[in-house]
Amino acid sequence: MKIFITILALVFTPISVITVHAKEQGQVTQPASGSALRKAVLDGLRPSIEADIKQKVIFIVDKIRVSDDWAFVQVTPVQPDSKSIDFRKTKYKERMDEGVFDGATTWALLRKKDNQWVVLTFQIGPTDVCWAEWDKAPYNCPRKILPYGDKYKITRNTHRTTMTPIDYENLWAAVVDMPSHRDRYSVHGQDHWKRVERNGCVLTARTGAKIDVVRLFSLFHDSRRENEGWDPDHGKRGAELAMAMRGTFFDLTDEDFDLLHYACVWHTDSDRHADPTIGTCWDADRLDLGRVGMIPDPAYMSTDFGAEIATHGVIQPWLHLAGAYLENPMTHHYYR
Ligand SMILES: [Fe+2]
Ligand SMILES: [Fe+2]
Repeated sequence: MKIFITILALVFTPISVITVHAKEQGQVTQPASGSALRKAVLDGLRPSIEADIKQKVIFIVDKIRVSDDWAFVQVTPVQPDSKSIDFRKTKYKERMDEGVFDGATTWALLRKKDNQWVVLTFQIGPTDVCWAEWDKAPYNCPRKILPYGDKYKITRNTHRTTMTPIDYENLWAAVVDMPSHRDRYSVHGQDHWKRVERNGCVLTARTGAKIDVVRLFSLFHDSRRENEGWDPDHGKRGAELAMAMRGTFFDLTDEDFDLLHYACVWHTDSDRHADPTIGTCWDADRLDLGRVGMIPDPAYMSTDFGAEIATHGVIQPWLHLAGAYLENPMTHHYYR
């Protein structure tokens, strides 16, 4: 949770706030390709990476953010002839075998001492946002050099005691506006979330699920994916985002929030669930498998109604049932 609130605080700042030409002390700069500063930072990083994977490397640079004597770097190390590194021949083979190596992307924090850039820490291929707490001990770097800087923060309203109807439009806008890797039509993007919401509303008409939990699940469950492939912790991150936004953008009772949290965290790891709300969330997601060429299997549906729809093959004959919750279920997933 603590980690995710930090991430959340970071992810709202538009890139445009980064001042490329800023010279003033304390400003964040992104040294240009070919600049002496950029070369000095990369020269500082290279020996650590070469020692770690026991081979010569050059870097493809994604980000270098410098402020005074601090530098944050996001790079992809490659062989000197620009070919990809075979990490199976490095100490990372074990992590690859365990499915906890997320590619060659490398993040590093450096600090200048005696005119030399010194590596404080780095990680190659982490499966989480490794830099999220580098602004805290032991590194204590300025937060502004981390991706997205420090302009926006979410403060949880812990004093709120009354429940009000959820403003879904406002809530969706806040989540959709967060920087991410995806476009709206990516297989786990907002077009999918909308169909899950519609499916969930159809199912709820007969399963007796808690509709707000189902609608919130559709928004949050894939919201913090970091890629469209293997991303085992994305449900957990989605749940943590819901937790961070609860009390500010929406509220639920503790009991209902626990359902939402559970449904998000376990939506890819578990088969079925007997609770009608959790089962409805998962069925709503699985009924959208058609988008990736998979036919939903009635055997993997948690609710009888979900199994009935899966057996039929398409949800269209039941779309009208979502009319109790959505303005226009037939076109709900189309963007205006
Ligand atoms: Fe997912
Ligand atoms: Fe999904």
